[in-house]
Amino acid sequence: MTGSVLIAPSLLAADFARLGEEVRAVSAAGADWLHIDVMDGHFVPNITLGPDVVKALRPHSALPFDVHLMIAPADPYLEAFREAGADLISIHPEAGPHLNRSLKRIRSLGAKAGVVFNPSTSPDVIAYMLDDIDLILVMSINPGFGGQSFMSSQLRKITRLREMADQAGRSDIVIEVDGGVAPETAKACISAGANALVAGTAVFRGGPAAYATNIAALRGASGGASGGASGD
Ligand code: DX5
Ligand code: ZN
Repeated sequence: MTGSVLIAPSLLAADFARLGEEVRAVSAAGADWLHIDVMDGHFVPNITLGPDVVKALRPHSALPFDVHLMIAPADPYLEAFREAGADLISIHPEAGPHLNRSLKRIRSLGAKAGVVFNPSTSPDVIAYMLDDIDLILVMSINPGFGGQSFMSSQLRKITRLREMADQAGRSDIVIEVDGGVAPETAKACISAGANALVAGTAVFRGGPAAYATNIAALRGASGGASGGASGD
């Protein structure tokens, strides 16, 4: 695990009428990854976008596309999202019958494989398959909508997952937190063991002129202020 935190703005909070511009603006403002929330109105009670939109956005940024699939089933769409330009693809264990098979499929397509934990999902789900995972995404809200309040109950889960990764010799696994992340909650996430933060509302509020400041605030609050050494 490195000392610096990755900031992944969630496009869910962007202006959907100007998505290409928003991707360019947030990339120029210092984001590390772009978090793209895919919802199907079935696995979660909201609908967003599909592979064609990801493909259309791909030329607008050189940053890794961190695609969070909130769809069931996910398996039939993995290849389409990879071909559209997804660099990391995360799936929920509840979205299909064979989590391990799905993760291996993601890797075989050349993407990094992530597992997403709903607030009620136990860390045990991945206990016997840490070697097949590149990314752990801990939801600190119930998935489906931006702008919800951070659930502190998930901090213990982050700590447990970090322990599990370290004990398995997989300290390189990125642990990312998603939902209600703001400067006020970022520090607790990092202290618990996370090293990547998704933020929608906290990045996009204030419009394009505020993106760089908003991203820097998240980085600063988590102990990795730009230009300074990380304390962790
Ligand atoms: C919700 C999504 C999140 C969401 C976070 O299901 O997975 O990525 O956009 O939004 P904020 O940062 O506003 O909680
Ligand atoms: Zn997400």
